[in-house]
Amino acid sequence: MTSWLRTHGSVPLCLLLCCVVVAVCAEAPGAGDGVCSSPSITSCAECLRRGPQCAWCFSEDFQDGSWPGQRCDLPVNLLRKGCGPEFLEQSEVKVEVNATIGSTQVSPRDINITLRPGSEASFIVAVKQLERYPVDLYYLVDVSASMQENLDHLKTVGVALSLRMTEHSSDLWLGFGSFVDKPVSPYINVHPSKINNPCSDYEIRCRPAHGFHHVLSMTGNMTEFTRVIKRQRISGNMDTPEGGLDAMLQAAVCQKAVGWRPQAKRLLLLMTDQPSHLALDSRLAGIVTPHDGLCHLENNIYTGSTRMDHPSVGQLSDKLLDNHIYSIFAVEKQQYQWYEELVRLLPGSYLGKLGLFQAPNLIELVLDAYKRLLSEVALSVSVEDKAVSRYWVSVSPLCPDGSTAKDQSCSGVQPDQTVYFNITIGLRSCPDNGEDEDVQVMVRPVGYNESTVIRIHSKCSCSCGPEARSWTD
Ligand SMILES: *[C@@H]1O[C@H](CO)[C@@H](O)[C@H](O)[C@H]1NC(C)=O
Ligand SMILES: *[C@@H]1O[C@H](CO)[C@@H](O)[C@H](O)[C@H]1NC(C)=O
Ligand SMILES: *[C@@H]1O[C@H](CO)[C@@H](O)[C@H](O)[C@H]1NC(C)=O
Ligand SMILES: *[C@@H]1O[C@H](CO)[C@@H](O)[C@H](O)[C@H]1NC(C)=O
Ligand SMILES: *[C@@H]1O[C@H](CO)[C@@H](O)[C@H](O)[C@H]1NC(C)=O
Repeated sequence: MTSWLRTHGSVPLCLLLCCVVVAVCAEAPGAGDGVCSSPSITSCAECLRRGPQCAWCFSEDFQDGSWPGQRCDLPVNLLRKGCGPEFLEQSEVKVEVNATIGSTQVSPRDINITLRPGSEASFIVAVKQLERYPVDLYYLVDVSASMQENLDHLKTVGVALSLRMTEHSSDLWLGFGSFVDKPVSPYINVHPSKINNPCSDYEIRCRPAHGFHHVLSMTGNMTEFTRVIKRQRISGNMDTPEGGLDAMLQAAVCQKAVGWRPQAKRLLLLMTDQPSHLALDSRLAGIVTPHDGLCHLENNIYTGSTRMDHPSVGQLSDKLLDNHIYSIFAVEKQQYQWYEELVRLLPGSYLGKLGLFQAPNLIELVLDAYKRLLSEVALSVSVEDKAVSRYWVSVSPLCPDGSTAKDQSCSGVQPDQTVYFNITIGLRSCPDNGEDEDVQVMVRPVGYNESTVIRIHSKCSCSCGPEARSWTD
């Protein structure tokens, strides 16, 4: 606006322009006509920002170079006023799908979208559940002193569970890791006699407290699993909550050590009889550095335990999603309520009661969890942080039973069925600098090893047209 008014600008002229606008509107009344043309518009970018229906004519001699606001109008009006179609810059919404990337579960995998401010685009993502998956199950066990009995029962689980899983899965692999808590005061007793054997008061020998210890990488050898579990000893600590979330994050992100298979459905089973510490809890021990979300294992021991705080629930949720891991919480019934709250915040998670804790009970719990988690197909859509406020997303699923669920998921999905998600993404506004922007949106079905990448190109400036030259000289 400024550059144009500086050359011609005076108050009477401005008033005159207002009259022209009124005249134009009177001459060609129609729905939405007035939305585009306005004397305050002096550039193509401003024009297109008025709405997806507006277009800009950049032909130099359009209307004998009269006031720039006239260049902004509905395309049909501009053409009628003599603008050649090759001089029209207009809002174009484009959806391009790369159909060449084959996929058995999630399709399409790659979509490009071009948006203008105020416009939106819709597309369909199909998620198909396969008949049978390989399954990886990682036991993450709280080995604080009160868990001795639970650890004993785990010894008998391996073979029996893999037999039961043959109904649902092509093969089952198991892994194992243990945790207690951050090995610093006030979570553990740092008296020299207690550090190495925290259970000395009970006259039993137990191992030092630890944040997370990865013990057995994924294996299909159940003899090996049983052998390793038999060697496990419990440990001890002071306060009641344990460092479960800290350990879960390591088990999720330390892909190589844990040995998660890329093609498997991944289950992370947390066994504990206590609530977990949350982010900020470790301030008590003077640890204020937030968790960096990375893997810190050395010789299978988590080395970040005393340096970084516990992860936040949001951070843990992201890492589980990124690594397509479902989580199962097997907790003593007194803690059920505490974990109910947590499970609500973690997509793809299941809560089971250990109750009368015995091996058959644990096997049923895992089977129930597996069936439940797989029968729920949910979608997580995330826009890059830098642009999250400028886009809106709506997801509506079409479930195999014909229902259209309101939240972003379908339940009761059976093997071999497909869920269709109709996703609409809209651009609310451009970045403050008014420049074009490329933003990536990830569409991730919870627990699936495949996702869809959406690249959005937001056209905020005008790509062609000599607008700068005609209005600033
Ligand atoms: C999407 O955009 C990228 C980068 O601009 C380009 O390389 C790719 O070919 C496009 N894909 C499709 C399906 O148009
Ligand atoms: C589609 O994806 C394939 C595999 O990533 C790539 O080679 C190809 O160039 C893409 N096609 C387009 C049009 O982007
Ligand atoms: C399974 O593990 C046991 C004990 O660790 C070992 O003796 C046996 O050779 C392993 N079997 C296979 C097929 O690797
Ligand atoms: C995802 O899992 C499926 C089914 O197990 C498998 O066929 C496919 O290769 C996996 N994809 C990747 C990228 O690992
Ligand atoms: C998807 O949703 C959009 C917006 O609600 C709607 O306009 C469009 O018709 C839907 N597409 C399909 C195929 O249902």
